[in-house]
Amino acid sequence: MSIDPELTAHTRKRYDRNAVIYDIAEAPIEYLFYASWRKRLWSGVKGPEVLEVGVGTGKNMPYYPPDVHVTAIDLSGKMLSRARRRAKELGLDVDLLLMDVQALDFPSNTFDTVVASFVFCSVPDPIIGLKELGRVCRPEGEIRLLEHMRARNAALGRLMDIANLLTVRAMGPNINRRTVENIERAGLDLERVEELSIQGIFKLIVAKPAQR
Ligand SMILES: C[S@@+](CC[C@H](N)C(=O)[O-])C[C@H]1O[C@@H](n2cnc3c(N)ncnc32)[C@H](O)[C@@H]1O
Repeated sequence: MSIDPELTAHTRKRYDRNAVIYDIAEAPIEYLFYASWRKRLWSGVKGPEVLEVGVGTGKNMPYYPPDVHVTAIDLSGKMLSRARRRAKELGLDVDLLLMDVQALDFPSNTFDTVVASFVFCSVPDPIIGLKELGRVCRPEGEIRLLEHMRARNAALGRLMDIANLLTVRAMGPNINRRTVENIERAGLDLERVEELSIQGIFKLIVAKPAQR
């Protein structure tokens, strides 16, 4: 298993390009669903050291618990500069770093909780990225993910496979990933999978790093 530099550059380019419209494009779904799901995602986060991967424009920042130190990374410099602006507006002391989740520049066992929302649909090789989460998370720590994935229903799933050809080229995310299976394939221990929507498309997932 190795990182595909072309695919990684493509993903970075897509998010650099879409950074300017990202918040506006997501505003309706953010208001209707994401805001309350983000609250749930972050309500169980324990510190002191927390890693957010794929921070994007910093939409999770309002939900960061007050008593933790957050390090946040993203592949896209343009998304990251918006996150920087949001951190400043909210008066948050967050370490924001340009980094690829497929090759995290942190020692093993660094973080008490690792969090991501809507990221593993875009990471070029999700298995490599998920393994990295397991590596940098402390053995007693927790990995908390909010993700969308391929529908359970076979016909809808096939439709998503077709639509994916477009979304991945135009925007960056894959809408047909099998993220729960990917988590298992990455060797993480699934603790809890909460269904948030019909057809199992949106899920809140809590996992533990594989016992080393
Ligand atoms: C759909 S956005 C989600 C952003 C944010 N987490 C949110 O909830 O709004 C996906 C984010 O993942 C980032 N990303 C994609 N691949 C990545 C990688 N290999 N390493 C780090 N970040 C990545 C993108 O740059 C983008 O900011």
